[in-house]
Order: sequence, then C-alpha cells, then structure tokens
Amino acid sequence: MNLRIPATRRKPSELGRAPEGPRLNPTASTRIRAFDATRSCVYSFFMSAYQMLWPVIRCLPPEFAHTLGLRLLRLPWRWNRPVADPFAWNGFHCRHRVGIAAGLDKNAAVVPGLERLGAGFVEIGTILVEPWPGNQVSPRLRRLVAQRALWNRLGFTSLGLKQVLMNLQSLQPTALRGMAILCNIGPHPGRLRKADDPLLAARDDLRTLVEGLHRFADGFVINLSSPNTRGLRSLLQSDRLRAALLQPIGTHLRHLESAEGQGRRRPLLLKLPPEDQERQPWNRDNLARVICPLIESGWCDGLVAVNTSVRLATTMVRLPPEDLPGGISGEPLRPEALRVVSMVRELSGPKALVIGSGGILRADDAVAFLDAGADLVEIYSGLIYRGPRLLTECAQTLKDRRPQRAVN
Ligand SMILES: Cc1cc2nc3c(=O)[nH]c(=O)nc-3n(C[C@H](O)[C@H](O)[C@H](O)COP(=O)(O)O)c2cc1C
Repeated sequence: MNLRIPATRRKPSELGRAPEGPRLNPTASTRIRAFDATRSCVYSFFMSAYQMLWPVIRCLPPEFAHTLGLRLLRLPWRWNRPVADPFAWNGFHCRHRVGIAAGLDKNAAVVPGLERLGAGFVEIGTILVEPWPGNQVSPRLRRLVAQRALWNRLGFTSLGLKQVLMNLQSLQPTALRGMAILCNIGPHPGRLRKADDPLLAARDDLRTLVEGLHRFADGFVINLSSPNTRGLRSLLQSDRLRAALLQPIGTHLRHLESAEGQGRRRPLLLKLPPEDQERQPWNRDNLARVICPLIESGWCDGLVAVNTSVRLATTMVRLPPEDLPGGISGEPLRPEALRVVSMVRELSGPKALVIGSGGILRADDAVAFLDAGADLVEIYSGLIYRGPRLLTECAQTLKDRRPQRAVN
C-alpha cells in the first residue's frame, strides 16, 4: 500500500512528535487531570445521549428533525473533544481529516456549532447567488432506516449569498479553532432554466459567489452533481466545461488572491456524482474524459467524490416515472463511492486533493476511503444514524492508524 500523503505535504507536528512544553508542578497537573476526566464524562454523556434519543428522533419528520438539530447546534455546548491530527495541502490546513459534507449547513448558520461538534472541516452550502426554496415536491427527505440511508430531493434550498455573508461576517475570529471552511457553490436553478447558454449562466453565478465568499473560504467546491436540479449534471460532461467555466473561475480566484497579497491559495475542487448523466456507474474512460482535462489544465485542484445517487434512488424508492427521483446517500452508496474515489485518485495523480464522501457510518469506512486514495473524508448521513460520536471516532482512528499506514 502506498502512502497517500507525500511527506513534503506534512508538517513536523503532523508526524506524531509530541510538542515540548513547560513542566507543570504536581498539584497543577492533578487539577488538569481531574478537569480532563470531568470533560470526558460530559462528552460521553452527549455522545450516548444521541443513541438513547434515537428512537424518538427517528419518529420526527426528517426536515423538522434537521431544523431542530440546527437549533441545538446553536447552544454553546461543546459536544465532542476535537481530535488534533493536522492536515495540510498546498496552503490548505484543517485540524483533522474528517469533515461535515455539504447540505447539513447550507447557509453557514451554525458554523461555530459544527466546530463544537469536533469537525476537522466543514463544507457549507450549496450556496446560491439568490435565495431559492428548493423543489416544491412532497416528501423531499426520507429516512430509509433499515438500509441506513437517506433519500432526498430537496434541490438547492438556499437563503442566498447575502444571508450567507452576513452569517460568516458575524463569526468571531476565534470561533473556528483550526476547522477549515470549504464553500460549496452552485448555479441558480431559476437562472439555469431560463438561460440560452446554461454553462455561461453557471459561470457568471459561480464567479459572483467566489468573489463574495473568498475572504471567508479556505477552499471552494463547485457543485454540478446534485441530482435534484434539472440540467445540472449535463454541464459536468460538457466539452466546454474547462474553457467556459473552470478556467474563468480559477483565473478570477487567483486574481482575487494576488490582490489580497497574502500568498494564500485556496483549492478549487469539483464535486462528482457517483454515476454519469445516463445514470450508469462511471467507467474509467468516461470518468477520465471528464476529470483528466480539468486536472491537467491546473484549474482544478481536486475532486469531492461523491454526491447522492439517482441510480440507487430509482431502484430503492418507488415513484411514478415522471416524478423527480431524488438521490440516495448513506450505507448503500459506499461501494460505488469507494470505486469512484479509487478511479479518481488513479486518474488525477498523487498531487490532487481528493475528498471522499458516501456512506461513512463507522471508523473502518473512513479508513477504507483513505486506502482508496482520499486525503480527507466527509460525512452527512452517518451523523444522522450514529450521532456526533462518529466524527471523533473516525478522526481518532485515522490519527491512530497513521504510523501503521506510513510503514505499509
Ligand atoms: C439532505 C441532504 C442534502 C444534501 N445537500 C447537498 C448540497 O446542498 N450540496 C451538495 O453538494 N451535496 C449535498 N448533499 C450530499 C452530501 O454532501 C454527500 O455528498 C452525500 O450525502 C454522501 O455522503 P453521506 O453518505 O455521508 O451522506 C446532501 C445530502 C443530503 C442527505
């Protein structure tokens, strides 16, 4: 097994050396140990409380439960002890390798709460230039508990760039404690529908979003892979994607960065669906046709693989054929997500930043993603089924297994 993180990307502090600090007198160290023990009890209580409350949570309507969850995240509690396992990639830093996937905090409403949940990084969004209510269908979100999956066809529900900026501006500088923010951005479905050239409409939207958000973002993820916005996935396989969309966005971002004059570089990533636009699993050739020109051009720094699956939705959820099929996330998505991550790593080479997502419900799943070639992993559905404990469990396991992975 080869080590995915070249040593040059890692800082000495990441290589497991204990930082040297001043010696404490015995009374102080006893007090600190007692404080640590109390803190551990409080964390354990919160973590097991989720499992105890699960029979109640699963009876709540899913969208209501989500809103309630966001409310709880506003409480000033620290739910999890954050794991320290810093990751660095070309100027992008986060405090460990396990993050929260897009869709959970679409409007950056609870970023400090996600920090207190112990995330290494968070992908906020999908953010749109203007507000959009999402798909007006019912139901839009369902738990498939036996399969440990979620079925959703929310579409892009966004309060718009202005509100997201207000939320980000209100963040205290100390609120993040090393948690990175990736901004997941997408074209506005209303404009896309009306545009003569959807790719150019998407480009204009994404440019506005990058311009507005770059001060707060540690990186960007372009989302052309949501299954719930008509016409979106076809943009991904357009021959003009690189020249008409990625290159102008990338140029604009680099221009904004050089105007900043801080030498800071934010990765520009693309989020992939688990299947092509014909809803067939990617094969090596058609995936190569999409991602190789983007990576080789240097305008795309990496990929997030994968978004939810329409193919699984059509087999797992019975709907009239004309109805919006939605997408499946959670456990059934994992095999395909792992297959795509491994193809992505092979095709994009060792330097690309690859984030794996899809069906992480236990620590071993996160390890499997790293073994398949991911640098980082992110979770959504697993948090619903396992609660906040999952974040720390995955981050700690990845940290503990690092020396073993390096030796192999
Ligand atoms: C309810 C819900 C909403 C989502 N919204 C978005 C979104 O707005 N943008 C996006 O790129 N992905 C979105 N996703 C996809 C997730 O970010 C993630 O890629 C996918 O769910 C697979 O990970 P999981 O199996 O851990 O949930 C959403 C997923 C769910 C379940």
